[in-house]
Amino acid sequence: MTEILIHQDAGVMTLTINRVDKKNSITAAMYAAMANALAAAAHDAAVKAVVIQGHETIFSAGNDIADFLKAPPTTQDTPVFRFLYGISAFAKPIVAAVCGPAVGVGTTLLLHCDLVYAGDNAAFSMPFVNLGLCPEAASSLLVPQLLGYHRAAEALLLGEPFSAETALEMGLVNRIVPPSEASALAHQQARKLASKPLSSVMETKRLMKKSSASAVTERIGYESASFGRMLQEPAAKEAFTAFMQKRKPDFVNL
Ligand code: COA
Repeated sequence: MTEILIHQDAGVMTLTINRVDKKNSITAAMYAAMANALAAAAHDAAVKAVVIQGHETIFSAGNDIADFLKAPPTTQDTPVFRFLYGISAFAKPIVAAVCGPAVGVGTTLLLHCDLVYAGDNAAFSMPFVNLGLCPEAASSLLVPQLLGYHRAAEALLLGEPFSAETALEMGLVNRIVPPSEASALAHQQARKLASKPLSSVMETKRLMKKSSASAVTERIGYESASFGRMLQEPAAKEAFTAFMQKRKPDFVNL
């Protein structure tokens, strides 16, 4: 599918989110394509590292809101949750290049990448509360671990956006570069990883994640049950309808 471009070269599989006219928001079909690509990469001995990138002006505006309104994902086997389980348990290294806005899952998927290179125009946000929703991708577990509770509360309870510099200081990003250089740097690092013994890279990743792996999987399950339920409640319906109608949501009576 052309909204997720899949390219493979020199041991590196690249997934490019390619729906710029809709700010790289991700539909169920795009989640399915990414989940399938990761599943294929896991079993393909020729793939030793994965790069995830968007466009120089936009990484991703998160879930496609129209899609969520039409067909809210309510079960664990839906493409969005298949993707989240897949990326969180992916055993080979993942490198991300992030430029422009990274909203919702655009930010939370980075928690499951091993290296993250950001353009200086990157802007991160997890505005789930502002949408009548709750965190996903185990961000309710991993963001407090990364930032400490109070800074996590600013990011997740207030849904406040933060810059590439703040993300670097938080430890969510490895390095900031001009947007035109982010993809090349991510690929350079992925090729470096691909040149190392795969079994050693995978075992090192597995050991680094050992203490959190089952907690992450369990949290994705809890979150997705809540997220699926909340998607069908009045606050989320109001937030999504307001976005489509290009107006501010009104939560006063909700
Ligand atoms: N789902 C569906 N469509 C989206 C979208 C999303 N998450 N984000 C943007 N779009 C669409 C807009 O509806 C618009 O479509 P149109 O041209 O047919 O009207 C187009 O992409 C451009 O978006 P626009 O908001 O005009 O771009 P912008 O440059 O002013 O702002 C963002 C970019 C990313 C800051 C803004 O689009 C945004 O905040 N998006 C919503 C993000 C969000 O809440 N995601 C979480 C979902 S759980």
